[in-house]
Amino acid sequence: MTNRQIITIAGGGSTYTPGIIQAVLNNADRLPLKEIRLYDIDSERNQDMYLIIDLLLKTSGHELVKLIVTEDPRQAFTGCDFIFSQIRVGGLKMREQDEKIPLRHRLVGQETCGLGGFAYGMRSMGGLLEIVGFVQEFAPEAWLLNYTNPESIVSEAVRRQYPEVKMINACDMTISLEETIAVNYGYDRKNWVPTYYGLNHFGWYTEIYDKSLGKDIMPEVIAKLNRQKLKVADFNEGDSSWQAAFEMMSVMTTDFPEQIPNNYLEYYLYGDLVVEKADLAYTRANMVMDGREKNTKEMAQKIRSGLTEDVLNFNFGEHGQYIVDMATSILNDEHRRFMLLVPNQGAIPNLRPDAVVEVPAYVGATGVEPISLRAPINDFHKGLMEAQVAAEKLLVDAYFEGSYQKALQAFTLNQTVPNARVAKKVLDEMIIANQDYWPVLS
Ligand code: NAD
Ligand code: G6P
Ligand code: MN
Repeated sequence: MTNRQIITIAGGGSTYTPGIIQAVLNNADRLPLKEIRLYDIDSERNQDMYLIIDLLLKTSGHELVKLIVTEDPRQAFTGCDFIFSQIRVGGLKMREQDEKIPLRHRLVGQETCGLGGFAYGMRSMGGLLEIVGFVQEFAPEAWLLNYTNPESIVSEAVRRQYPEVKMINACDMTISLEETIAVNYGYDRKNWVPTYYGLNHFGWYTEIYDKSLGKDIMPEVIAKLNRQKLKVADFNEGDSSWQAAFEMMSVMTTDFPEQIPNNYLEYYLYGDLVVEKADLAYTRANMVMDGREKNTKEMAQKIRSGLTEDVLNFNFGEHGQYIVDMATSILNDEHRRFMLLVPNQGAIPNLRPDAVVEVPAYVGATGVEPISLRAPINDFHKGLMEAQVAAEKLLVDAYFEGSYQKALQAFTLNQTVPNARVAKKVLDEMIIANQDYWPVLS
């Protein structure tokens, strides 16, 4: 009988916490739960989430699960079994800057891609390294499952500072994309064994083997994408920017019909289109503030005013289930297959071994076992990835060395940037906007 587990959510006040806890509760047979700890640096957000999770526990028959809310890392991490990390250093206010500063220079402004992603990376590395440090100090045996973005950059920083840490870095995009493709074209994703390679938000499928059909269905999915654009699945219902993102999939597979790309490649391959369609006065950060963030505050407000019925209202699709599946796979040695961020070490044979790559991997009691590709990758993808890896490495160098020169090289090499002059202008503006968060660069 598995011991009941203590799970700490780092970034407890995150808008994704209810979906994750819901998934934990749905899997109580595989992940028996003793205690949930919400850890955040913002006590107001954490208290709001306490109310929401407390109601969720009480209304779903899990009132015996202990719930703790804390801003004290010792209390949060001591003795816990799993940490799910999902912090956003600087909050959505700074995400807005990440999006709007590059856009003012007619460059892609995005949470994890382009210069916005680099600015976020420079903030996020310190926050996440601090969490990893707390875990090393207070719960060195625990597993840290990380969703904190931008995944490639923070994974690289952790790889350098804590190479031995028991940590898994993951992104929900492949699973969301697969789910969306499956519901649009009438497949059951549970039968799929997908193969994929890349960097985070920067990769391609090579095969989608369908066990029930006994064949690779990627070619027919590409044909379908080219005939009929994807519609968002239920978990993105009514979200116009996700709808637009999924429609771009068809543009990409029409131009490059050999493989299915990650939707985030639109920012690197079609940056001009992205900039043209953007509204500088109202970017994605504004939508998320007026959507997910407002909705979370409203749920807490209703509970505070005494309401208990029809209060809980969230649907994050597979996001929660995916991280819970990782935890159960470790706990019960299930050897499930995930797309994960891992040091390359030959998994992509013709890419530098010290790159952090996203590839399929099995997860079990001893951790992650990445799967190596059967063949080298093509020059188009390799060229794009090598430039991106080098740019990310330079950014992480800039962070650890406090080097302005390395930051400028990283910004210039970023694939969304046409020249060094604009890279420098954006970097200088980002330094001012991020003075409370970035290390000093000189
Ligand atoms: P959010 O701003 O709603 O929540 C983040 C929480 O982190 C906030 O409550 C904030 O106070 C807290 N926080 C910030 N800095 C902290 C620190 N140093 N220590 C502890 N807590 C801290 O953001 P969100 O939209 O819910 O997203 C949360 C994170 O999850 C982001 O990094 C986002 O990019 C990421 N995310 C990743 C994936 C993925 O595929 N990997 C998917 C979805 C979201
Ligand atoms: C997907 C990506 C995440 C990203 C999120 C942004 O889930 O995998 O890495 O953080 O989308 O969604 P949002 O609704 O915040 O724009
Ligand atoms: Mn992601």
